[in-house]
Amino acid sequence: MTTTRHESEERHEAAPALLEVDDLEVRFPVYGSGLLRRVVGHVHAVSGVSLRLAERETLGVVGESGCGKSTTGRAILQLVKPTAGSVRYRGEELTSMSSAGLQRVRREAGIVFQDPYASLNPKLPVNDIIAEPLKVHRRWRDGGPERVAELLRLVGLSPEHGNRYPHEFSGGQRQRVGIARALALEPRLLVLDEPVSALDVSVQAGVVNLLEDLQERLGLSYVFIAHDLSVVRHISDRVAVMYLGRVVETGTREQVYESPSHPYTQALLSAAPWPDPRQERVRERIVLTGDVPSPVNPPSGCRFRTRCWKAQEVCAEQTPELTDRGNGHPVACHFPD
Ligand SMILES: Nc1ncnc2c1ncn2[C@@H]1O[C@H](COP(=O)(O)OP(=O)(O)OP(=O)(O)O)[C@@H](O)[C@H]1O
Ligand code: SF4
Ligand SMILES: [Mg+2]
Repeated sequence: MTTTRHESEERHEAAPALLEVDDLEVRFPVYGSGLLRRVVGHVHAVSGVSLRLAERETLGVVGESGCGKSTTGRAILQLVKPTAGSVRYRGEELTSMSSAGLQRVRREAGIVFQDPYASLNPKLPVNDIIAEPLKVHRRWRDGGPERVAELLRLVGLSPEHGNRYPHEFSGGQRQRVGIARALALEPRLLVLDEPVSALDVSVQAGVVNLLEDLQERLGLSYVFIAHDLSVVRHISDRVAVMYLGRVVETGTREQVYESPSHPYTQALLSAAPWPDPRQERVRERIVLTGDVPSPVNPPSGCRFRTRCWKAQEVCAEQTPELTDRGNGHPVACHFPD
């Protein structure tokens, strides 16, 4: 296993942080079925998540369905109210910011959703969809129509198609419209929530390449949420692996993919298709048994312990903190590799 500090890790620490998330917590109330609809419990969707994103960097967030990726992305942008924790964007605390302050930040920090069909208003032509944020933020009078045409060109679409409706575009083109809209206010940060998961494999690469190209040209930073490990590997500088609301391992792409230290990351990677057929033949597959426990009543101590082949008594008693053991590759496990 690699123990030396990786070059890109050093670059990450040297670069100014655009986004710093500390101990982020999101709990959703669960209501009873009685007339009074009392709160009978909570969904522990995000628990103690800490992340750091440097300028022009891509942080990939991976994990199984329901592990809290989207809630983390939305809580970063304050689209879901965090229950606790801190989110700092360019040094400013967002969790206690006034709505006027948040409106200002939202010009710089946008989101792209998984399903472009659901996230774009089907009743509006594409020109109006892209124009909306410009109008809301009072930028329309200052060359609005030209800006919409420029945005369409930027994402590889023809401005002549701007009067068409979302259903007249293919899936990949619709996602390009979603990206154009997210870029309307010239953001620095985009949260991309499974931006290619709903697309055919054949068009995924085109959209991923477009995102990389835009990052380069516009100096963007991305939080890239996905459950497809190969897409995350392709696009990310750093990766955070989530399990049941917690980050269990984080580091550079090479650290996480080439030297996975947490049993959950090892299991995830062992189940993913390998690009090299020789490695594919010899690699060991780790088959996880049991279901993901309910986030309403997560296991004590390590949340992964009910499915972990290395679990010992201490794992039920003490929550393993995300700990950097000196190699810039923090892991939340009492017995990491
Ligand atoms: N508004 C809400 N009210 C109650 N529970 C919620 C709400 N939003 C999300 N959850 C729950 O929080 C947990 C985390 O959900 P989230 O959507 O963040 O997961 P995810 O990792 O994005 O999953 P997927 O890969 O399926 O998109 C899940 O158990 C989900 O059911
Ligand atoms: S803390 Fe224990 S249960 Fe959790 S991943 Fe590590 S060995 Fe497994
Ligand atoms: Mg999601």
